[in-house]
Amino acid sequence: MDTRSKPSARLAFNPHVAALPAYNAGMSLGKARALSGKHDIARLGSNENPYGCSPKVLEALASPAFEPWRYADPACAELRDVLAAHVGVDAAEIVCGNGSEEMIAAISRAFLPPDSSVLTVVPSFGLHEIEPLALGAKVTKIPMTAGLDFDLAALESELKKAPQIFFISSPWNPVGPALNAAALDRLIKATSPTTLFVFDEAYFELMDPGMPNGIQVLRAAGIAHVVLRSFSKAYGLAGLRVGYAVCSDTEIARVIAAAKTPFNVNAAAQLGAIAAIGDQAWMKQAVADIRAERDRTRAELAKIGITPAASQTNFLFFDCGTDASEVAKGLLADGIIVKAWREKGYESFLRANTGRPAENDRLVASLKRVLKR
Ligand SMILES: Cc1ncc(COP(=O)(O)O)c(C=O)c1O
Repeated sequence: MDTRSKPSARLAFNPHVAALPAYNAGMSLGKARALSGKHDIARLGSNENPYGCSPKVLEALASPAFEPWRYADPACAELRDVLAAHVGVDAAEIVCGNGSEEMIAAISRAFLPPDSSVLTVVPSFGLHEIEPLALGAKVTKIPMTAGLDFDLAALESELKKAPQIFFISSPWNPVGPALNAAALDRLIKATSPTTLFVFDEAYFELMDPGMPNGIQVLRAAGIAHVVLRSFSKAYGLAGLRVGYAVCSDTEIARVIAAAKTPFNVNAAAQLGAIAAIGDQAWMKQAVADIRAERDRTRAELAKIGITPAASQTNFLFFDCGTDASEVAKGLLADGIIVKAWREKGYESFLRANTGRPAENDRLVASLKRVLKR
């Protein structure tokens, strides 16, 4: 159809939203099967937990407490109490979201008046850029170093310009490293009192022992901040959609809650998250298994000349030395979903999350074939 004849032709779109880049979501199972002609697909594109989730979550969803015909608690009171005890803050400082991604949107709505500026990194978790852009904010992105790490000096000098929000994930999606205590301290010290420091710890539980706990460090520093955590990764609840924001004070929490949709966290997600927090043993075992497999996969990749960035999480990010989208197509032909990076300047990078042992073996064998190593 000719665009000029579409019913939308005379509408005034919000130009910021109409111009947004598409979120680079992992390929669905159905599409991967259709394109590859394979049934057994290794899903390594979306940083999910290959070991599933705690059986306690499934028990909770099969119990009479699950009442899908009722509206779930819009305040997530019980879940917030459980989380408050788990992370050691007041429940009034926590806001729960439909995934932590909803919190990124709500934070942007709450703290980005017109003509705001936002600081983040590149490559990045897409929504740290997309949500501010939707509100017309100017987004400055600091590239990673040649050593595939955070460029602390460049971040420090941009922080001094006092953006409204600083979004950074640690461990860093899509690259993998995490900020150590000294690095986090440098960024905190460079942050202006008018900047909201959003520390996205979606992969917190997967970090190496001894790494800083963002909630504790940022609280001790006393700056305005929000720490984001997710149930989608270590707890394996990506499909339920639940994450949370731990705020430096109740006023920040109040305004973020005002910016979210009222019944944002559904009944299954609230019950499932409470059950997941109650089964720390399951989560810790899954994390140990993922870490061991990630390191084994890294060693196998080294044998075919691939050197991923340092990873404190459940994925590896590496330069294929050629167009990563073509490499991803080659892997898909073998029934493997990975994520080819699309941000400008990083099109030769590919991110593959750690799967079960047989899936990781398939990944290495397929890369060997596709890259002719
Ligand atoms: C850094 C980071 N933040 C936030 C999210 C969103 O997680 P969710 O909305 O599933 O909680 C992700 C998901 O991949 C992520 O990588």
